[in-house]
Amino acid sequence: MVARKPIVGANWKSNPAKLSACDDLINSWNGAGFDEGKVEVVVGATAVHIANAKSKFDPKFKVAAQNCSKTGEGAFTGEITASMLTDLGLEWVIIGHSERRHKFGESNEDIAEKIGKAQEAGLKVLFCIGELLEEREAGKTNEVCETQVKAVVSKVTDWSKIVIAYEPVWAIGTGVVATVEQAQEAHAAVRKVLADNVSAEVAASTRIQYGGSVSPDNCEELIKCPDIDGFLVGGASLKPTFMDIIGKVQASC
Ligand code: PGA
Repeated sequence: MVARKPIVGANWKSNPAKLSACDDLINSWNGAGFDEGKVEVVVGATAVHIANAKSKFDPKFKVAAQNCSKTGEGAFTGEITASMLTDLGLEWVIIGHSERRHKFGESNEDIAEKIGKAQEAGLKVLFCIGELLEEREAGKTNEVCETQVKAVVSKVTDWSKIVIAYEPVWAIGTGVVATVEQAQEAHAAVRKVLADNVSAEVAASTRIQYGGSVSPDNCEELIKCPDIDGFLVGGASLKPTFMDIIGKVQASC
C-alpha cells in the first residue's frame, strides 16, 4: 500500500478584499506552525495577492494560483499562463473549480487544455471535480465524476503532480457537508476510475481531497475515511482557525 501524505488546500477565492487582511492570516498561520513532513499545505490566493503571499508565508506553506490559461503567451488579454506561474516560483495551481465550471462556463475540454499547459510547465495541480445537486439526486454522482476525470486523462503525463479535489457542488459554501459515507463512496469511485483508466499504481498513489463546507468541527471524521487524503477548504480558510484543520489532519497521520 502506497502511503499518501495528506494535503490540505486553502481556497481563498476572490477574498480577502484587502491585502492587509491577507497579511493578518499569513502572520497568524506562520506562527501556528505544522509539520510539513506529515501534511502538505497549499494556499490559493488571488492572482494579485500571489506575490505578496509567496514573499510573506513561511516557505512550508505553498502558494497556489486559482486558475491558469489554456493558451500560451500571446494576445490573450487577462489570461495568466502556466509558465508565468512557474517563473514566479509557484509550484501549484487550482484547475477546474466548480465556480470556474458553473459560473464561468469552463467545459471539461477547457479544463483538460489547462491541465495540459500546467503539466508542460511543471506545475502541480489541484484538479477539482464534483456533481451538482440535481446530478446527485438523479443518481449520477459517479458518472459525472468519471466523465470529469476521463476528460483530462490524455493530458496528464505526470500523475505525481495531480491531486484530485472531489467537491460536491451542493456542499460548497452551503454549510451542508457530505456525510462520511457519501464522501468515502465518491472517493473510492474516483480511485476506481483511475485504476480502470490509468493504472493501479496511479490509483493507489494519487491523493484525493474532499471539499465542501469543511470546518474544524467536521474534518476529524472525514479524514478517517480510507480514501480521503485531505481537504480543499473555502470559507473556513479565511479564518485563523484554518490551522485547527491542519492540526487535526496532522494528528490523524
Ligand atoms: P467551502 O468551499 O469550504 O466554502 O465550501 C470549498 C471550495 O470551494 O473549494
